[in-house]
Amino acid sequence: MIVGVVKESFPGERRVALVPDLVPMLAKRGYEVVIQAGAGTEAGFLDAAYEAKGAQVLAGRDDVFAKAEILVHVRMGGANPERGADDLPRYREGQVVIGAADPLSHPEAIRALAERGVHAFGLELIPRTTRAQAMDILSSMATVAGYRAVLWAADRLPKFFPMFMTAAGTVAPAKVFIVGAGVAGLQAIATAKRLGAVVSAYDVRPAVKEEVESLGGKFVEMELETAEGEGGYAKAMDEAFYERQREMMLKVVAESDVVITTAAIPGRKAPILVTAEMVAGMAPGSVIVDLAAERGGNCELTRVDEVVESGGVTILGPSNVPSSLPYHASQMVSRNAVNFLLNMLSKPENPRDRDHVAVFDLEQEDDIMAGTWMTKGGEVVHEAVLEKLGATTEGQA
Ligand code: NAI
Repeated sequence: MIVGVVKESFPGERRVALVPDLVPMLAKRGYEVVIQAGAGTEAGFLDAAYEAKGAQVLAGRDDVFAKAEILVHVRMGGANPERGADDLPRYREGQVVIGAADPLSHPEAIRALAERGVHAFGLELIPRTTRAQAMDILSSMATVAGYRAVLWAADRLPKFFPMFMTAAGTVAPAKVFIVGAGVAGLQAIATAKRLGAVVSAYDVRPAVKEEVESLGGKFVEMELETAEGEGGYAKAMDEAFYERQREMMLKVVAESDVVITTAAIPGRKAPILVTAEMVAGMAPGSVIVDLAAERGGNCELTRVDEVVESGGVTILGPSNVPSSLPYHASQMVSRNAVNFLLNMLSKPENPRDRDHVAVFDLEQEDDIMAGTWMTKGGEVVHEAVLEKLGATTEGQA
């Protein structure tokens, strides 16, 4: 099978879907790689490095689409709503297309992929199981975002993060409050701790307390019911709940130098947890980094990709954070994609069967393939995407 990788076309995207070091891993299992010239340059991977690892570098985007049987993107479909559409005429019937596609926010873009007759797999739909962890781009990219958010906050804050005892006096450590301690939040806690801040965190899921404490953070107790939904995600709560949560967070937000918000509910707008009134209660110089900005924001004052100043408080609402650390973000996303491709190879009935020759196999029964498969035979086939389109599989039949 020939795997094709093209230069990402989403505005400002610097990642690449496959790094040179992983080309031999694919080659060993029967996948050839063709890559568009310059695809990895912005992430720090030059064409010569791909060639040295056995990939074929092709000059044109069209050449890659024409040659590849499988295309791997960082962003496609709904995750690249404008420029991604330019690629639609380039797809061929039966091609396999893999990447982040934001299918639950942009289901119409998935329908457009279906109309091209491709087998499209959306990497955000990876089930959150132990076996799927190595393919989970949401986790790997959340790790990048949590780390980066802390560095941006430290850069903006007119204070030190660590405590210092110097001849010029003692400096108190910065107080950092993380709202939402999923993958990004936990990485933000770890990064802020490494920089010496005093870190506290809150999450609606009950399992999180122990995780926060194991990283050296303090879990902020709130008298609120806990809310664990399906697949380990948080459940959407009603406005009365969020109102109570905001009241309880008022004091801790006011006392924090930095607030990093990551609270999200899959497929929904992010809840507003930090109001303008709460921002007004913060000391001048404080910084909020809203990692939920792309999902509508956790802070009422967030504006995507703008720096908002309000009463001396700086609010950052960055989008596409992983692209700001393109080298390692590409390495991680590539590893996820390669693991996904290797999982698409046939598996022996008996795991000890050493004579089994693995071949690319779309027919096999596999929960990870089934969970991420969005389009097949010209139709959208993923239940959650169909629901967003206002249809169901039964409705279609
Ligand atoms: P996410 O990006 O959907 O949300 C971020 C965090 O915000 C979550 O921890 C969520 O509970 C929290 N949140 C939502 N509403 C909130 C509110 N009102 N106040 C405070 N916090 C709020 O979540 P993420 O990071 O993708 O992880 C969610 C879950 O998935 C976790 O349980 C994690 O351990 C699990 N997971 C499992 C994996 C696996 O088994 N393969 C891989 C990665 C994560």
